Amino acid sequence: MGAIAAHQGLVFIGFMAAGKTRAAQAVAERLDLGVIDTDDLLVNELGEPISAFFEREGETEFRRREERLIVSVLDALAGQVGGPSSVVALGGGAIESEAIRRALGEHMPVWCDVDEEVAWERASGSDRPLAVDRRAFAERFETRRPIYESLSRAILPSAARDAAGPAAPWLAAMQGNPGVRMIWAESESGSYPAVVGEGALGLLD
Ligand code: S3P
Repeated sequence: MGAIAAHQGLVFIGFMAAGKTRAAQAVAERLDLGVIDTDDLLVNELGEPISAFFEREGETEFRRREERLIVSVLDALAGQVGGPSSVVALGGGAIESEAIRRALGEHMPVWCDVDEEVAWERASGSDRPLAVDRRAFAERFETRRPIYESLSRAILPSAARDAAGPAAPWLAAMQGNPGVRMIWAESESGSYPAVVGEGALGLLD
């Protein structure tokens, strides 16, 4: 008997305030699945807001707790061989962890892209601990961008913020086609998926 393939979950990645949770919710609704927001799980586990933990314990300790929690969520998701129950939204900095990047290799990361300026406008008024210093924010954005890009199987640009729902059936179809990548494109006449890679044409069936 052949090995049973791990379940490839839809996992939303992207910078702070890119709209990952909102996109995950829209996709989950279309596909009749639940949503796991790892920031929410972390807040539960820490017993306090992320900002309070960050201030007292520092970023290194936050990353250690974040890594442990997310790796266990992603491993559990990969084990759902009978079919998925949830889509997952990660905190923006999760991809800085090598262990998390490795665990993401089992899944189908969907990158919610966002302009740096838009992310700053949204995030700077919130209590996110890393959205205080404008220059440091921009530097993190530049450092992380290529990582999101290289990890992602599908890209939802911020201009297509409302595309997650319509994109959901495409994302679901891609789960069985590891050679396929997709970017959701916007044009004057509407939005559509641009799909490339081996097996791309099969998605149209
Ligand atoms: C962080 C992003 C936040 C949260 C924490 C750190 C980051 O999540 O995990 O404040 O390093 O980018 P969101 O991406 O949901 O804002």
